[in-house]
Amino acid sequence: MSRPPDMAAPEPGPGNQPCPSPFPMPAPGSVGPPPEYAVLRRSCPLARVATPFGAPAWCVTRYDDVRKLLADDRFVRPTIDDWPLDADVTARGPGLVTMMELDGPRHAALRQALAEPFSVRATRQRRPSLRATADRLLGPITADGPPGDLVSGFCEPFPLLVVCELVGIPYAERATFLAAADAALGALVTLEEGREATHQLRSYMSSLLERHRRAPGGDILSSLVEAGERGAVDEESVLSFGLSMLVAGYRTTTMFLANAVLALLTEPDQYERLLDDRALLPTAVDELLRFLPVQNGVIVLQAREDVAVHGHTIRAGEAVLPVLAAANRDEGTFPEADRLVLDRQANPHLAFGRGPHNCIGAHLARAQLSVGLEALLDHFPRLRLTGQPPTWEDHSPVRSPLTLPVTW
Ligand code: HEM
Repeated sequence: MSRPPDMAAPEPGPGNQPCPSPFPMPAPGSVGPPPEYAVLRRSCPLARVATPFGAPAWCVTRYDDVRKLLADDRFVRPTIDDWPLDADVTARGPGLVTMMELDGPRHAALRQALAEPFSVRATRQRRPSLRATADRLLGPITADGPPGDLVSGFCEPFPLLVVCELVGIPYAERATFLAAADAALGALVTLEEGREATHQLRSYMSSLLERHRRAPGGDILSSLVEAGERGAVDEESVLSFGLSMLVAGYRTTTMFLANAVLALLTEPDQYERLLDDRALLPTAVDELLRFLPVQNGVIVLQAREDVAVHGHTIRAGEAVLPVLAAANRDEGTFPEADRLVLDRQANPHLAFGRGPHNCIGAHLARAQLSVGLEALLDHFPRLRLTGQPPTWEDHSPVRSPLTLPVTW
């Protein structure tokens, strides 16, 4: 892993002081990004903020800085429910160690074992089955007639069905893990019930791995269990991967899909544009990924040593939030950054992160988004919002509509 040089020199003037302020949140009933990002990017690129859960952190908003930080091995990702860190951490039992918190050779071995099932080639082969899943969900909505809710009918079940089948998680058992997975993700914001959720997820995944050991199938968990028996990966890493799938494998895609549909139906003529020109879908998907702030600021890094940034020192142990959604709106990298330009050509967005922990599911996510949107265009060429406002959960910085009332 390479260590980047120190970040850009600070701008002159009072603008580069670390300004303490609350972590910016999207306005209620909206996905964001909050307007404060632009202010911070311009005048306070390394800002001291109070996070929603009270702990202080450094907030980084410029594209070049975020890009470097994500791949800087002087920072680690603290365990989801062990942050903010305090003296009692070790007394609280095992945390939710996902792939993101693994490092070094164990992490590299796991990435290698997963390279093929998440490759471009494997994902391309899976596209017809993704389309069949989308059609299976949209068919009944069409048959029932308008109006309908696209979140419960499609945006939620589609990514979950896809991941369950690929990874080897029984969809029929979703009631056992969905609530705990959401509580563990919620722990990023409130820490409430995070420990209990972690315990439930670990014991569910351990028992599922045991079932795959006894009766292997053609899924990723079975092949990882086998790789574990050969010694290619260690057992705790296999568990970490399974836990990652429960908390990261579908929720991001669900939220993103709901936000994408809302954006396409809200921005004038964008849905029609895709209807008329399906060849735009690949660039449109990447532009939506850049434009929509699914991850407003939930990647938490912790400095292993003192690091100088913009003339200030991030001390060892301090937390840093590289805000992908702010980086993706940086005018220095993306001309007309606040416009959704479906045919944008150069688009080096950071929606999937960067460096050794970049999103292993990026090809799959792109395929799901593109197949999912295409299926919607085919089933509902006259899709539009009903006028009844979507509902939102406004406490989290990670936002998507909980309902999406549509008609056609
Ligand atoms: C729109 C959908 C998605 C978005 C925006 C997204 C975004 C991200 C980001 C930003 C990271 C890096 C986090 C970090 O640096 O700490 C990440 C990591 C990860 N993502 Fe995704 N993701 C999406 C879908 C998926 C899917 C579909 C899967 C798998 C089925 C997946 C599995 C993972 C895993 C396992 C990691 C951790 C990789 C590692 O630590 O080596 N993601 N994702």
